[in-house]
Amino acid sequence: MSKTTFVCLSCQATSSKWFGCCPVCHEWNTIEEVSGRQPGITRRKQHLKPVPLQRLNECKIVPQKRLASGIGEWDRVTGGGIVSGSFLMLTGDPGIGKSTLLLHIAHELSKKHRIFYFSSEESLEQVKLRAERINCVSSTLLFSDRAQLDEIIITAEHEHPDIIIIDSIQNCYSSESETLPGSVGQLREAAFRLMRLAKENGIAVILSGHITKEGLMAGPKTLEHMVDAVFYLQGEDRWQTRILRSVKNRFGTVNEIGFFEMETNGLREITNINKYLIDECNSTSGSMLASSLEGSRPLLLELQALTIPTQYGVAQRVISGIDPKHVILVAAILEKYLHIKFSAHDIFFKISGSLKIKGVPPDLGIALALLSSFFQQPLPAKCIALGELSLTGQVKPINGIGIHTNEAEKFGIRELFIASNQKIAKCTAQLHRFKHVGELLSLFN
Ligand code: TYD
Ligand code: MG
Repeated sequence: MSKTTFVCLSCQATSSKWFGCCPVCHEWNTIEEVSGRQPGITRRKQHLKPVPLQRLNECKIVPQKRLASGIGEWDRVTGGGIVSGSFLMLTGDPGIGKSTLLLHIAHELSKKHRIFYFSSEESLEQVKLRAERINCVSSTLLFSDRAQLDEIIITAEHEHPDIIIIDSIQNCYSSESETLPGSVGQLREAAFRLMRLAKENGIAVILSGHITKEGLMAGPKTLEHMVDAVFYLQGEDRWQTRILRSVKNRFGTVNEIGFFEMETNGLREITNINKYLIDECNSTSGSMLASSLEGSRPLLLELQALTIPTQYGVAQRVISGIDPKHVILVAAILEKYLHIKFSAHDIFFKISGSLKIKGVPPDLGIALALLSSFFQQPLPAKCIALGELSLTGQVKPINGIGIHTNEAEKFGIRELFIASNQKIAKCTAQLHRFKHVGELLSLFN
């Protein structure tokens, strides 16, 4: 008999009862019913035979074939193109541009490979209208608006394309499952069967799935462990920018990011994002340039700080784009060694362009932005800070500085603020070396 279980979309805890509030992670309205039957598990054990075991040194490695689209930002985020037989997921808010991006990629890839695009969300007329709008109508790309999983799998097994795209997984349904399309049970079953399709046939499968307002993938969050890679498409409030980020990638670097701009005729990749970022940067008080390694690419960031004396009791900390703890820590270091009363100041802090970074915190840049706002004095233009701070107030060197300086020099950076013992290979910029945060005061009069 099939036993009903309930799963929390937030923490994946299972229970035999429904709760309004998850007893494990205490999130509200995250519990969903799943069918007790696990996909793909056969109950007829009498047909099973012991499996042959292998030694790793006898195991042959077949070189991975990568299918590059020629859209540089996508190819970099995927780790150099889609690996044959991989199982990928593209997710993001509804309306962010997932279908548009997938159509661009499918169009480019279809010039050299066989791609099937299953549009379970939109009719073929709607897809055609979009394709015309973004100039991606091709005679090589094949579409279907069928949403039944069994039909999709049979078609792929029969026709053996290089890639199938399923847009979106939440709209697919399986005739075998008793639960509704989009429910956790259906999604898990669909993902399991598509994973097998990918691995057993060498067909790359790309799923799209949308997340809810709370940032939960309405189910697909529960699929993250099954897929080889998860890419998030996120929006930014300026320049109509869309950021594609790899949050998991078995075939590439995580936190790799790609930039696109949503235009009236589709998504255009931004190949020179650092030029955009640098051009936006003005040398005003509270602003400092730093660099953060996101995935394999250094991003030149304008850090913006605003400090003002606290008016009502407790000092406010409004920090975005970076883990707030880093800014609070840097403020504490400055308070301790420079005797600046940040504890009596509100601190507002963000990264220009509302970027969110995951790389190493740009400590020295944070310190300089805070000091520049506090003293209301701008720092030199075209100047970048590359250093970390220790709790003892020492300015520490950063690893792999060359990758940052190369990028910074490309965009006309003329001065570097670095640690006194930072080893640095050839660099034409003027170097300002600091041993301790106390020495930063010399920059302000
Ligand atoms: P879409 O790719 O349908 O988003 P998703 O699949 O993530 O739900 O994108 C829909 C939005 O993008 C819609 O608000 C209109 C906008 N858009 C453009 O601005 N330019 C375009 O060329 C296209 C195709 C869409
Ligand atoms: Mg869509």
